[in-house]
Amino acid sequence: MKLWGGNYDAAPDAVFWEFNKSFPFDRRLVREEIAASRAWVRALGRGGAIRPQEAATLERGLDEVLAKVEADPSYMDADLEDVHSFVEARLGEVVGDLAGQAHLGRSRNEQTVTALRLWARGTIDRLRAGVAALVRALVEKGREGADAVMPGYTHTRAAEAITFGHWAAAHAWGLVRDSDRLRDARARVDVLPLGSGALAGTPLPLDREAMARDLGFAAVSESALDAVMDRDFAVALVSGCAQLQTHLARLAEDLIHFGGPEYGFVDLPEAFTTGSSLRPRKKNPDALELVRGKAARVDGDLLRLLTLLKGLPAGYQKDLQEDKEAAFEAADTAMGSVAIMTGVVAGIGLVRDAMRAAASREELMAAGLAVALAGEGMPFREAHHVIGAIVAEAQKSGRTLRAVAAERLPGVSPAVAGRLDSLFDPLRSVQAKSLRGGTAPDAVRASLDAALARVSD
Ligand code: ARG
Repeated sequence: MKLWGGNYDAAPDAVFWEFNKSFPFDRRLVREEIAASRAWVRALGRGGAIRPQEAATLERGLDEVLAKVEADPSYMDADLEDVHSFVEARLGEVVGDLAGQAHLGRSRNEQTVTALRLWARGTIDRLRAGVAALVRALVEKGREGADAVMPGYTHTRAAEAITFGHWAAAHAWGLVRDSDRLRDARARVDVLPLGSGALAGTPLPLDREAMARDLGFAAVSESALDAVMDRDFAVALVSGCAQLQTHLARLAEDLIHFGGPEYGFVDLPEAFTTGSSLRPRKKNPDALELVRGKAARVDGDLLRLLTLLKGLPAGYQKDLQEDKEAAFEAADTAMGSVAIMTGVVAGIGLVRDAMRAAASREELMAAGLAVALAGEGMPFREAHHVIGAIVAEAQKSGRTLRAVAAERLPGVSPAVAGRLDSLFDPLRSVQAKSLRGGTAPDAVRASLDAALARVSD
């Protein structure tokens, strides 16, 4: 059944009919479409466009359609154009011809964007709850490893000793910003388009504010023409998902390495790895690789949406039907990836010995030596040069940095030479970095607490 066709002689081309349909993917908006339709018929009843009993019958009919949707998945098997046609058709089965009145003065141009906004709002709430759970998992692991020293890397080369908690807090803070961005996107989503008609508004006596209240929207759109074409909110959501997925991919990338045999800093939970079909000892980080790989989808969805919108004239165009799959895929991918990363992070075991051994490598201490010399009054560039020469000598002679430093430093700075034990101790080196945001265990605990507080409001 089509919602149009009174002026048509020919049936649509069969290939085109399939091509034109959005029902295969917009059927997931059925609850949102029913909720919006309910608010619409109530508004029609309140405004006197239909009789109060008619409104009540239509509302009850919509409730019945919803109950059937919930009760029986096959109830939605239908060869229909879109979810809006579906609800109207099923409502017709329940209440008869009166169902047509549910469409009084209403255009699918406003329906589709209303349903998408309702979906986007719920999706953002679920995504933010998921991100908060992941931050919590990172914070808990970070607290566990607040004093576990490990190397921190730049250019994938070990650079300075940090704590595992410092690493965990860094990833948590990226996610805090993702949560903030999604909250900002929610405010853009939270606007009611109903009452816009096809593009010009409606002559019906409707209380749009009351409709907004019914649907829990914070605001009412101010331009009917804008309301039917505005997909900024979808871009904000998908862009939020893309940034989130980028952070998840980076976290996955770190754990792929830290969980592998070359690093061995963490044990990855078996439940999120797979065995090798060839080598019995291997545990492959497939879950993490997929989270990293799926970032490509979400980035693609963002580009798809932006290029879809580019160059459209004002008003609703059927092109806009293409908005939904991009938004669905981005949100589904981010949601699934957040859940996977939460499971992985909660399940990792810290291998403190391996972290500490890697963090005790002497090259990591070179920067600390230079800073110590500068602290004794030597200009830092000169200190950097002096320590560089000691590093070079150690490398050329095959002796340890510690041994060469013990030989050379007394002539340069007896005070620093006397502190070599502590300067070569990675825990002392991290403890010294105690400013806000630094890697000292107390600073790390404060950072973790603050991250958790930010996503818990
Ligand atoms: N299925 C369409 C969409 O997803 C909504 C229908 C609007 N179509 C129309 N010809 N006015 O955007």
